[in-house]
Amino acid sequence: MDAPKEIFLKDYTKPDYYFETVDLSFSLGEEKTIVSSLIKVSPRVQGSSAPLVLDGHDLKLLSVKVEGKLLKEGDYQLDSRHLTLPSLPAKESFVLEIDTEIYPHKNTSLDGLYKSSGNFCTQCEAEGFRKITFYQDRPDIMAKYTCRVEADKSLYPVLLSNGNLISQGDIEGGRHFALWEDPFKKPCYLFALVAGQLASRDDTFTTRSGREVSLKIWTPAEDLPKTAHAMYSLKAAMKWDEDVFGLEYDLDLFNIVAVPDFNMGAMENKSLNIFNSKLVLASPETATDADYAAILGVIGHEYFHNWTGNRVTCRDWFQLSLKEGLTVFRDQEFSSDMGSRTVKRIADVSKLRIYQFPQDAGPMAHPVRPHSYIKMDNFYTGKFLFAKGAEVVRMYKTLLGSEGFRKGIDLYFQRHDEQAVTCEDFFAAMRDANSADFANFLQWYSQAGTPVVKVASSYNAEARTFSLKFSQEIPPTPGQPTKEATFIPVVVGLLDSSGKDITLSSVYHDGTLQTISSSSTILRVTKKEEEFVFSDIAERPVPSLFRGFSAPVRVETDLSDDDLFFLLAHDSDEFNRWEAGQVLARKLMLNLVSDFQQNRPLVLNPKFIQGLGSVLSDSTLDKEFIAKAITLPGEGEIMDMMAVADPDAVHAVRKFVRKQLASELKTELLKIVENNRSTEAYVFDHPNMARRALKNTALAYLASLEDPSYVELALSEYKLATNLTDQFAALAALAQNRGKTRDNVLADFYNKWQGDYLVVNKWFLLQSSSDIPGNVENVTKLLDHPAFDLRNPNKAMNFHAKDGSGYKFLGDIVVQLDKINPQVASRMVSAFSRWKRYDETRQALAKAQLEMIMSANGLSENVFEIASKSLA
Ligand code: PHE
Ligand code: ZN
Repeated sequence: MDAPKEIFLKDYTKPDYYFETVDLSFSLGEEKTIVSSLIKVSPRVQGSSAPLVLDGHDLKLLSVKVEGKLLKEGDYQLDSRHLTLPSLPAKESFVLEIDTEIYPHKNTSLDGLYKSSGNFCTQCEAEGFRKITFYQDRPDIMAKYTCRVEADKSLYPVLLSNGNLISQGDIEGGRHFALWEDPFKKPCYLFALVAGQLASRDDTFTTRSGREVSLKIWTPAEDLPKTAHAMYSLKAAMKWDEDVFGLEYDLDLFNIVAVPDFNMGAMENKSLNIFNSKLVLASPETATDADYAAILGVIGHEYFHNWTGNRVTCRDWFQLSLKEGLTVFRDQEFSSDMGSRTVKRIADVSKLRIYQFPQDAGPMAHPVRPHSYIKMDNFYTGKFLFAKGAEVVRMYKTLLGSEGFRKGIDLYFQRHDEQAVTCEDFFAAMRDANSADFANFLQWYSQAGTPVVKVASSYNAEARTFSLKFSQEIPPTPGQPTKEATFIPVVVGLLDSSGKDITLSSVYHDGTLQTISSSSTILRVTKKEEEFVFSDIAERPVPSLFRGFSAPVRVETDLSDDDLFFLLAHDSDEFNRWEAGQVLARKLMLNLVSDFQQNRPLVLNPKFIQGLGSVLSDSTLDKEFIAKAITLPGEGEIMDMMAVADPDAVHAVRKFVRKQLASELKTELLKIVENNRSTEAYVFDHPNMARRALKNTALAYLASLEDPSYVELALSEYKLATNLTDQFAALAALAQNRGKTRDNVLADFYNKWQGDYLVVNKWFLLQSSSDIPGNVENVTKLLDHPAFDLRNPNKAMNFHAKDGSGYKFLGDIVVQLDKINPQVASRMVSAFSRWKRYDETRQALAKAQLEMIMSANGLSENVFEIASKSLA
């Protein structure tokens, strides 16, 4: 292997050659596939003598022709990664023809052209197209494509590619072909091809301008009944994008294909979205509410890419957030509008805290727009990495309001349709459409790390003023020891002693007095330190800060526990009611951790029990909100706040708090379970999902008590359940505790569902992520389970077992898996990336595994990048 090379944003240069049209032809076969491409090339600068460098990986070159003339071996250079054509015709444009041979059946990386359950399919983002043919594999090469696919007709009756179907027919030898044409220019990462035995659920959508679009969702025939929810989601997304952004679908056909083998969730290939089956297939018996919600969100996400990503794309991969941050923001908004806004916001912020904040504090920390990378794929590793980019987009909306934001979006499309652009272009459209002053907002794109904002408040009774002093600091990250201040929008309200919002009249800042007249306002924090003073405040208020989580920062305030309990009970911003409960829980759990470490007895503050108790019995609140409000912060969040993470102490404390709460609130919890059962048919809507969420959260609390009557209760919920949401929740509740009941119910569930691999995957995941003692051993056994497939591994587990068994287990898997699928292997190495946060024993054990991985033969660039940066 050539030494892995780092690529830098600052080195970006425009391509020397553009591709105008690309005509591809695939002859698919069992042993080999022949790919012919015919490209109309035009130099960027007339008369250019620059060589044309094409990317290619694992390809067998058959022939190259320029203007119809076959090139001989000395006319080009070929190495393991490139095909270089040094001398080209000095013409306005010329034709390049390349034939290659590839071996999809041997491609286990699920990148490029590969086979999934006997069908052919492709994945080209970010750099998979170079595994199909020689090409300038970079997103700023936008061309119009045609694609002819030819294959055996009985093995591959369905042949799909991007755009419109132009013609199809039979050819000799039992083969047939289809010719597709995509009228829109696109980068090659949006190319797609699918061939196989598939059936479709068909529907139509009429756009607001009257175009009838044919919608097809393709799966193996037996799965078609499970695509109803996906179709519902697609139509809802198409309508929503018209209503909210005025964006209409631009072709007559939209295809979605579900495949069982896929590295990520889904892919937005132009008019031919390809999905991991788990994000398409759902029935009440085989999918949970969480799955239904994920399907809605991801179908929306990929559909929304048609404008944000496809029509306007990224100039280079450093701009990934241009499409991903914006599209994640759009799918979040879509899901909010289809369900509960507050609950969706809570869920998104939790994910940010669980996945993004830790990454932002580790060796792979990178800005929303990175400065460099070794393997682009690694920016997609780990879940929800685009969350911060979405938060940045959300801040524009917070600052500009819905209308101003929409103006910015409109200008963005007006300026950049069918172009490959940068994050600055998006920023400029938002700014120019609104003549906005965004101060140092661009820092969000270039600085890594999560800002820490400290807030100090003081009330002056005599002057009737209330002051908020902010200071911000961004911790150092690899390659960025010092940081500049950034623009942090802080949405604030002030509560009076009855818990109502005070109508704010004016705020003094930086020598100017600004009048306001509303119950909340946005403070523009742009410096390392600054103060805002509200006037005409009659009594000491309790401030509600960062309403709706108005910026992706960690906040430290001087609010007392009493203030926080007050906010939990009264804040008009529901998000901040939840947040107050979380801040209280984090504080309390941290204190208990130090009690635990010093062998002091653990005692739970009765006020906390009361606070959660009153949320629990407040019938005016949304039920899913209640479920979220009584859920404690995760162990990772608590460890994140410690100088040296102590997994044992945090685990013990969280368990203790849960049990205490359950025992003190059991009467209310039991009532909740009893009052929120339903035997009606499953309905996917917010009220029903909220009801199930609350009931199942309560059941999990009760079952944690290990009291035989609650175990009985959970068992009967398990047996009576009419949908997977309730059944799986009962299973999970029972699986919290080691013992016979656990073993029996897990065995029963497997027997019942062994024929459905998606349900079986959940069964694996439930066990691999379990925190019962001795779980590494259980998981090791599961590897030998007949249904386990290393190509589809589950990464979560009690990784931090003190004897290092979890580390060793994972280290071994990474090395094995890297040979099969580097993208998934590197995702698993990321689990080691924060090893320096643990005690010395664990550090040594984890480091040893990282070193073992680094010394493995034939390591992929993907794994190399993460392992080496983690050790650095
Ligand atoms: N672009 C895909 C999406 O938005 C994510 C993805 C990236 C999928 C890379 C595959 C490979 O869902
Ligand atoms: Zn996306």
